[in-house]
Amino acid sequence: MNIPVLTIDGPSGAGKGTVSRAVSRKLGWHYLDSGSIYRALAIAVLKQGLNLNDVAAIVELAGHIQLQFICEDDGLKVDLNGEDISAQLGMESTGNTASIIAAYPEVRAVLLQKQKDFKRAPGLVADGRDMGTVVFPDAEFKVFLTASAEERAKRRYKQLIEKGIDANLCQITSEIEARDRRDRERATAPLRPAEDAVCIDSSDLTIEQVIAQVMDFIRQSGSKTE
Ligand code: C5P
Repeated sequence: MNIPVLTIDGPSGAGKGTVSRAVSRKLGWHYLDSGSIYRALAIAVLKQGLNLNDVAAIVELAGHIQLQFICEDDGLKVDLNGEDISAQLGMESTGNTASIIAAYPEVRAVLLQKQKDFKRAPGLVADGRDMGTVVFPDAEFKVFLTASAEERAKRRYKQLIEKGIDANLCQITSEIEARDRRDRERATAPLRPAEDAVCIDSSDLTIEQVIAQVMDFIRQSGSKTE
């Protein structure tokens, strides 16, 4: 049975998470937030106090972590070995550590099957960096969602301020640029659009406009969703 997959890749802060969740709800498909797998591993690594250069220990840990994803109305709840880590998942430090350990090919290899297992009927929306290039290269629908670094930093800043978290726009901009650079320049599964992906620049679009463009793209290019 053919299970349709929509991949949404792009740099951090482009709106992938919000768009993917909304589109998966509209289609009634499952949702994979692959970044949260790397983030959860980052939290486990920090909890254990592992050295970020100790690839063998990180790989060993990656093979043993138990993750549970629970979709709730106000977002995704993630349990790591039975403990709710949702609050730490979105922290900048978690994202930065995730991007460091995600550069190790051995770590990516261990996490690959965990991600593939999300593909279940009636369909999957998968968001990340290498969904269309490595994890689901045969996906029927591929989107690469981007936005200028300046715009992404502004969005992230606004999000943090709204949550009452102290933030500094300059610092966020340089962290976003550093993370982009690391994700783009790594040797294994670098961030890049799949050759058959449609690119959407969300810099001047509202989130509703991006969702509408993705839905139009699926309607126009596929019949298996009907
Ligand atoms: O998307 P998110 O910001 O949650 O991802 C955190 C980090 O995890 C990214 O900066 C990237 O280095 C890594 N990641 C990855 N491949 C994915 C998803 C995330 O390398 N498919």
